[in-house]
Amino acid sequence: MAAYSRGEPLRNDQLYKSLSIDKVIPEGALLERVPTGKDRALHNPVTRKIRWAQHSLRALGLLEKVPGERGVWRSTAKARGELTPAPRRTVLLGFSTKLGLALWGDCADVFKGFNEPIHCCLTSPPYCIDRPRAYGGIAESLYVDFICRAMEPIVKNLVAGGTIALNITQDVFLKGLPARSLTPERVVIALHEKLGLYKVDSLVWSNASKAPGPIAWASKERVLLNTGYEPIYIFSNDPSRMFASNQRVLQPHTERHLKLIAKGGENRTGVYGDGANKIYPGSFGAPTEGRIPRNVLQFGGRCHSQTEVRRFAKEQGLPVHGATFPLALAKFLIEYLTRPGDTMVDNFAGWFTGPLAAELTGRRWLASERMLQYVEGARRRFMGFAGYSDAHLLPEWES
Ligand SMILES: C[S@@+](CC[C@H](N)C(=O)[O-])C[C@H]1O[C@@H](n2cnc3c(N)ncnc32)[C@H](O)[C@@H]1O
Repeated sequence: MAAYSRGEPLRNDQLYKSLSIDKVIPEGALLERVPTGKDRALHNPVTRKIRWAQHSLRALGLLEKVPGERGVWRSTAKARGELTPAPRRTVLLGFSTKLGLALWGDCADVFKGFNEPIHCCLTSPPYCIDRPRAYGGIAESLYVDFICRAMEPIVKNLVAGGTIALNITQDVFLKGLPARSLTPERVVIALHEKLGLYKVDSLVWSNASKAPGPIAWASKERVLLNTGYEPIYIFSNDPSRMFASNQRVLQPHTERHLKLIAKGGENRTGVYGDGANKIYPGSFGAPTEGRIPRNVLQFGGRCHSQTEVRRFAKEQGLPVHGATFPLALAKFLIEYLTRPGDTMVDNFAGWFTGPLAAELTGRRWLASERMLQYVEGARRRFMGFAGYSDAHLLPEWES
């Protein structure tokens, strides 16, 4: 599909040539002929596979033959412009690197029957909001079940001490009231009671550049404050064996703290909080590699990586994703929650920001996204990585 992403007609011989140059087709494979079908006629297996993929994509309304031309195909306006959800029970490989696989498919189909160890899931599912995003939202009454069903196959494969980082909005309001829905709390309780996960933290992702809102209750009625953060819940199946480590995400000490360390720590005694906190001579004097981050994370919503993928999407006539993580936030979470070589998954990958963070930090990844055009846009972010290949939007499996 990537070969057709510019929307220009492509002759099959040009397609085969570009796939050979990109080494998607092994050298010499185009010359091979094998007896095929009932009549045992000689055919090339690679070109047959490509033609089969072309017809599958045509059936999905994504590719079309150029009228009056033989062996010339182009992507349809639908493939480039509108969001195209993957049909149920169909999973296609969008692109891959040495470390990961990007799959176009509903997460229920991608993870059904999945049977590989997972160390972490970092994900931001669609929200149950009144005005859903372009990619849709989930009715509030169905939301808890939707999340539990999506997380179940992942929890089943989560290694002991693995973690799930779940970003869901808190900005869902009861009809006509400046009162927040308790659905996020219900999700947390259901994940504990139904899937056996423990809530180990509720990180605050503070985003100073968040658009002002809720408009009705903050700007018009003026009874609520503007929202400045989103929760990111951290769950584990076995908190006693967690391999998350704050040592992988230490921050630089402040000047003041470095001075304190240099002079050997405090030189006074103090008792605070009715005895809960005590200071002795020497307190805070031990040299350490850095400051343990607090669970309030400050990351602006926009970043360079997003600007680049946004530009690429616009150039290609692809829809722009409206709800992505800043890369620095995803990178922080991946480094905190996993070790190099671990496997992370994202079942609601959008523009694959979590997988990109995994790729950049040497973690393996597997991710699903339901909208073809987001997978197409995301590939721009992975092009330079080892083993990158995007020329194979071929049916990977049908479940
Ligand atoms: C909030 S966005 C994720 C953005 C992502 N964290 C990023 O930074 O790029 C949620 C995504 O889930 C996708 N989605 C919704 N339902 C899905 C499903 N059943 N299976 C897979 N993806 C789905 C939507 O198309 C949307 O792109």
